[in-house]
Amino acid sequence: MKKLLLTIALGTAVVLAGCGEKKEEKKKFSYERTKTEAKAAKTTATSQVPVDMENKGIGPIKEVVFGDIDQAMVSRGEEAFKTKCTACHKTDQKFIGPAMTGIYDRRSPEWVMNMILNPAQMQKEDPIAQALVEEYKGTLMLDQNLTEDEARDIAEFLRTL
Ligand code: HEC
Repeated sequence: MKKLLLTIALGTAVVLAGCGEKKEEKKKFSYERTKTEAKAAKTTATSQVPVDMENKGIGPIKEVVFGDIDQAMVSRGEEAFKTKCTACHKTDQKFIGPAMTGIYDRRSPEWVMNMILNPAQMQKEDPIAQALVEEYKGTLMLDQNLTEDEARDIAEFLRTL
């Protein structure tokens, strides 16, 4: 009887130890997988989302003409960006949303301004915005209720990044 109990106790200990090991292995595995996935997401970040410079987006902005950079607009835009956008965007790296550097290499100015002014409709109906929402796993850019002038200032600031 004593022996049996001991065997049971030992058995349980082995099983428990076994479980512990397995759990640890599993944890390690998923940690590594997350790391690999994160790396993969970084390297393929732009390839999943279409680049279409002809796409002007959906919203109030039909045409934006960029001339020489206007410094007064840039400083106003920078201030507005700091208060309304940095909760989700960093300029040079991915954060809650995409990095802003080089935005006009992949999006038209009209698209950028319509995304700022009319994100909800863009997320529903525009193919690029839809792909971005997918890439950002459903995290949605929020409407910051900017005026067209404020959005234009920010659009000017983004040119300097
Ligand atoms: C609540 C977080 C949040 C805020 C605030 C926010 N954004 Fe976004 N932004 C996102 C996310 C997430 C995306 C990717 C699209 C999506 O999932 O809606 C995005 C996408 C964008 C894009 C398209 C980027 C690309 O690579 O095509 C631009 C441009 C942009 N945001 C500019 C701004 C500006 C300018 C502001 C401030 C007025 C701002 N965003 C405020 C989260 C945010």
